[in-house]
Amino acid sequence: MANVRIKCAQTIQTIIEDKVFFAELKNDFGEKDLPFANMLILTALRHWTGLNEILRTFLKKKIPHKHRTAQYLLLLAIAELVFMETAPYAVINETVKNVRAVSDKFLSGMANAVLRKITGDIDFWREKLQIINPLPASFLPLLKGYDTAQIEQIAQSVFEQPRTDISVKSNPEQWAKKLNAEILPNGSLRLHDAAKISSMEGYENGDWWVQDVAASLPVMAMGDVKGKKVVDLCAAPGGKTAQLLAGGAEVIAVDISADRLEKLRQNMQRIGFEEKVQIICDDALDFLHTTEDEAFDAVLLDAPCSATGTFRRHPEVLHIKTTDDVIQQAKIQQQLLENSARIVKKNGIILYSVCSIAQAEGELQIDNFLNQHKNFKILPITDADIKISGLIQNKGWVRTLPYHLQQDGGMDAFFICKLQRII
Ligand SMILES: C[S@@+](CC[C@H](N)C(=O)[O-])C[C@H]1O[C@@H](n2cnc3c(N)ncnc32)[C@H](O)[C@@H]1O
Repeated sequence: MANVRIKCAQTIQTIIEDKVFFAELKNDFGEKDLPFANMLILTALRHWTGLNEILRTFLKKKIPHKHRTAQYLLLLAIAELVFMETAPYAVINETVKNVRAVSDKFLSGMANAVLRKITGDIDFWREKLQIINPLPASFLPLLKGYDTAQIEQIAQSVFEQPRTDISVKSNPEQWAKKLNAEILPNGSLRLHDAAKISSMEGYENGDWWVQDVAASLPVMAMGDVKGKKVVDLCAAPGGKTAQLLAGGAEVIAVDISADRLEKLRQNMQRIGFEEKVQIICDDALDFLHTTEDEAFDAVLLDAPCSATGTFRRHPEVLHIKTTDDVIQQAKIQQQLLENSARIVKKNGIILYSVCSIAQAEGELQIDNFLNQHKNFKILPITDADIKISGLIQNKGWVRTLPYHLQQDGGMDAFFICKLQRII
């Protein structure tokens, strides 16, 4: 496993230094090493703030920049010692050897000493890693608008491993039995074992698709879409497109990314909806500019965003996204909302959603839109629409947070608002 650990260190270095999502990186771990690599990288990212803090306490001076792969190896080794079941001697031996290979003798000696100290009281360090606040200082400004108790619960949920949810075309009870899954109040199924999704019954036939429970709520909030002409503006990979089609809407799916649209096309083909949907590869803004006024009954704007609401699945967002990203995405969202307003018929709706925890991309975005567009109002979402209570806020929009549905294993953070054109 020597090489797999070096590859993990290089991967995490790319994620942190180049600010990219782990899922976006092409991995070359191979089938045998992939589960180990995924587990190690995600565990380390969930505890990244704490691991760095602990390592700092052991170091008399900073590890030179040119040897930072060795530093990543050490951080991963601490995570592996504390949270995984590998024998400590194997972690220490492999790491010392790997540190030597990527840096020098001095650092490999230091790695040996640090890891032996950690091994001396693993329970102590595990407990410490559960206490250290996992939210880095750079992320705290993104949580503006939440109170201290909420921020504490958000922080705790960083340590939780998310469950896998699926949306079914029909018969949730039957599928829950077949897949040994739990039915959530809105009809999503939560899998107990999601190790081999693509070989599970019903996947190949397109009877269901993977979709976090929170991600299924925007289309549910739209209400009855049967026979409605809907444009899904940022559609790929198509979870919400599939829901719209299952609800009987006439759908145009637009996305800027050809690769992601190909994934959408494959998903629609698997689910049996390929013939029903029109797929357009375009910048949504260009699409809006070339669309005539009042062309649609509804716009689904599942807008590009910081994706900070998905930190349980992608813990790296906590370390790679900053206020600048939110400001940049909020500008794009504002333009997309602004231009969507024109293509919706009178009484038609814009369903706006983002998988962001930052209120600047959700609540504030909508307040700002309504100040500028007196011809729109919020059409309050109801518990009857989304079938999960406790998520609807006073203004009629939905804010989900990672600790909602906690007893069942939480959910992604989403903001969802239904706007109606009244003039
Ligand atoms: C949050 S994902 C959408 C998820 C999708 N609605 C679903 O439910 O499966 C955001 C999508 O927006 C697309 N996107 C980003 N900027 C865009 C733009 N300017 N125009 C159209 N699509 C865009 C991305 O390629 C990405 O597929």
